[in-house]
Amino acid sequence: MSVCELKEKLKALEKEALDALALADSSEAVEQIRLSYLGAKGALTAILRGLSQLSKEQRPEIGQLANAVKELITLELNKTKETILYKELEKRLGHEKIDVTLPGTGHKLGHIHPLTQITDLVIHICYGMGFEVAEGPEIETEYYNFDALNTPADHPARDEQDTFYTNLGPTSLLRSQTSTVQIRVMEKRKPPLRIISPGRVYRNEEINARKYPLFHQVEGLLIDRHVTFGQLKGTLNEFIRRLFGKPLKTRFRPDFFPFTEPSAELDAQCPFCMGSGCRTCGQRGWLELLGCGMVDPFVLAGVGIDSDEWSGFAFGVGIERLAMLKFGINDIRYFFMSDLRFLEQF
Ligand code: DAH
Repeated sequence: MSVCELKEKLKALEKEALDALALADSSEAVEQIRLSYLGAKGALTAILRGLSQLSKEQRPEIGQLANAVKELITLELNKTKETILYKELEKRLGHEKIDVTLPGTGHKLGHIHPLTQITDLVIHICYGMGFEVAEGPEIETEYYNFDALNTPADHPARDEQDTFYTNLGPTSLLRSQTSTVQIRVMEKRKPPLRIISPGRVYRNEEINARKYPLFHQVEGLLIDRHVTFGQLKGTLNEFIRRLFGKPLKTRFRPDFFPFTEPSAELDAQCPFCMGSGCRTCGQRGWLELLGCGMVDPFVLAGVGIDSDEWSGFAFGVGIERLAMLKFGINDIRYFFMSDLRFLEQF
């Protein structure tokens, strides 16, 4: 190519590139233009590479011109790129605008499980009546769960169908009642005693609306001098009044528990119909609430407490039962489903 032709070619390239840049409307388009002129395989790059083949006289003139064209195109490229980036940013800001009036995502606050709420309420009430909280292990031995509670080896509750045995030892089991804590406390401490013990208990039972193999109880134990059944009645009547927020009639039906003598089942007047009969109480007007009785002297003797000097009463309440009554829940399984639609109601 002659010098003239080369010059014309360079001029043409310059015009072509500037025209293309004037039309470019995206940063991709600008990049494409840069590649086709200044890239490794670009048209201008090719000419600059070819400079070495020119004669000494031709080289400076063409070289100067080629570099000037390169500079000009580079300058225009950068300007166009900047303008386009700015426009693109403007556009993005336009449609990514934040509407501060939209409701936020929000974070849900958790809250206390209904069973824990009732447990806390029971603790609160009993604490106000002078009872302190004591705890015992959930993995127990036959001794604490049965023997020390005067439950002989042939008692149906000791049948493996009711109790979960573990393989941790020949007599190791999951406690089936919180009464175990009575023994643990009396072994360690001297009377007078006034404790309650909330916690999990386990029974090998078929699951249905009223039964679940895991549930919760609160045990109560009072040991003092000259304790009477009348004091047991007074304490439980007051407990029920505080629990339901109003005084309810109660009746103590004779019952049997191996570790109390006499033993009773406490029924309370149904707080929903006040005794006239409704669905919750099955038209009976009464609700079975808990088991109780005077601590059997045999149990006291077992832990070395002199029953001539000391006597006491005990009671055991099912927490699920209380929660079902207080909240009007008709199926125990709801407590263990972790379903927020249920839990959020309480
Ligand atoms: N432990 C008994 C049960 O699980 C409930 C019970 C009854 C506890 C009478 C007591 C009591 O302390 O005196 O069925």
